Amino acid sequence: MIDELAYAGPEHLDAAFVAGFDRKQGYPDPAGDLDAFTAQGLGADSSVVDLGTGTGQFALAAARRFGQVTAVDVSPAMLALLRERAAGQGLKNLDCVRAGFLSYQHAGPPADGVYTRHALHQLPDFWKALALDRIARMLRPGGVLRLRDLIYDFRPAETEDVFREWFRYAAADPAEGYTGEDYAEHIRTEFSTFRWLLEPMLAAAGFEIVAAEFEGRLYGAYTCIRT
Ligand SMILES: C[S@@+](CC[C@H](N)C(=O)[O-])C[C@H]1O[C@@H](n2cnc3c(N)ncnc32)[C@H](O)[C@@H]1O
Repeated sequence: MIDELAYAGPEHLDAAFVAGFDRKQGYPDPAGDLDAFTAQGLGADSSVVDLGTGTGQFALAAARRFGQVTAVDVSPAMLALLRERAAGQGLKNLDCVRAGFLSYQHAGPPADGVYTRHALHQLPDFWKALALDRIARMLRPGGVLRLRDLIYDFRPAETEDVFREWFRYAAADPAEGYTGEDYAEHIRTEFSTFRWLLEPMLAAAGFEIVAAEFEGRLYGAYTCIRT
């Protein structure tokens, strides 16, 4: 077994970085992802697990729509911040669990939904495939995986052109967004994979992809049903 903390991205373990994380990454509207679950029949009685929850931007919103939300992250600093927020908002149906994609043990009945955003790329592909298999096993048949990540939707020969274009939109101030150096570090040290590798991994884990939405050639979102 790998040490998931060693792959988690050192910045995600650093309390100072975590404190500025929301400002740096922005405040993506969770409505589209919540609606993707609702469209598949999840509601006030449903259970949803958010893997790699970070500061819980999705998990906090999900706890207002679904019956039970389990927010999982390998980083103690991320979870400490989320626990504080959940307590401040009086959310009783949000559990925080310190664990990783490869170590989280789902207790109780299988989940109705699993969400994960911008976290699966922390794992190399072999481990990503195992993580997807573990996700399939924690879901009931017909359960929903909503996966968002930085996924490379291009052929290897296009890499230089796509990355050059990406870097044009980098932030200048690291407190306000992801800089060119952040992007370079992502490419060098993290494990975003090609779309044409990820989709067979989803199929091998027993998922049917019912929707795939890509923004440009780098950011993808999937709704998948556990068959
Ligand atoms: C870029 S942040 C995204 C956080 C959140 N999902 C969001 O979209 O705002 C990546 C998160 O994944 C967590 N992480 C990294 N490796 C992980 C693993 N193996 N298992 C679970 N969480 C992991 C990090 O600690 C961090 O909180």
